Amino acid sequence: MSNIVYDPAIFREPALRTVFVRVARPQHREKWGEYEVPVKSHTTVIDVLEWIRAHCDPTLLYRHSCHHGSCGTCGMVINGDQALACTTRILDLVDRAEAEGRDATVELRPLPAMNHIADLAVDPTPLYRDFPTAAGYLRESEYNKGSETPPEIERYERFENCIECGLCVAACPVIRIRDFMAPAALAAYNRELDKNPERLEELLPRVDSDRGAWGCDRHLECSRVCPTGVYPAKHIAMLQKKIKKARG
Ligand code: SF4
Ligand code: FES
Repeated sequence: MSNIVYDPAIFREPALRTVFVRVARPQHREKWGEYEVPVKSHTTVIDVLEWIRAHCDPTLLYRHSCHHGSCGTCGMVINGDQALACTTRILDLVDRAEAEGRDATVELRPLPAMNHIADLAVDPTPLYRDFPTAAGYLRESEYNKGSETPPEIERYERFENCIECGLCVAACPVIRIRDFMAPAALAAYNRELDKNPERLEELLPRVDSDRGAWGCDRHLECSRVCPTGVYPAKHIAMLQKKIKKARG
């Protein structure tokens, strides 16, 4: 775990510059909201959205909770790429655009492949609907090695470090063209089978299909965008191996 140093000086820092931000607002007649936002060195995309709500438009909608990359609710498309708004520093985007000679306006859109609610807010049902049943909710990383844990905790364990942000679903080119399970859900199946091989007969048939493990075209976009290193594509390949082995 990294040590985070809180330096109160960053809150007193004056705004360094103004950044232009375009926010998709598909349910509005204008379709886009355009704002000029003062930013500091540490300003993130979620800070920008909060500034817009406080100073320009309190009706702007987006999802967020933790503000530090652990709840998975703030996923969106930032300058064309799927990312978490709370861990994306706005000046990194501006500096990159300017270095490449592009327009430095930051463009924000809602995650595709989710159920759109309004502005940048989406309902993540398409992410959750295919998760294996009875696979629990706690992350493995929350275990303290060597410590004693109550036996019933097993029931709440979930795979690796998935924060259920849905970026893998939004980035997957296959989901855009045909019915395909969420990469995170397929990774959860593989993880569940590693932990509980006695569930093989129950779980494997649920992913042995073209909308399951065999639907993957190996674009690897899910692994590229995943902010917590789950590497869903690796888990899908491992699921395919398990299916082949079970077939004999
Ligand atoms: S596998 Fe990664 S990208 Fe997909 S929902 Fe989990 S954390 Fe997000
Ligand atoms: S607000 Fe929790 S991950 Fe961004």
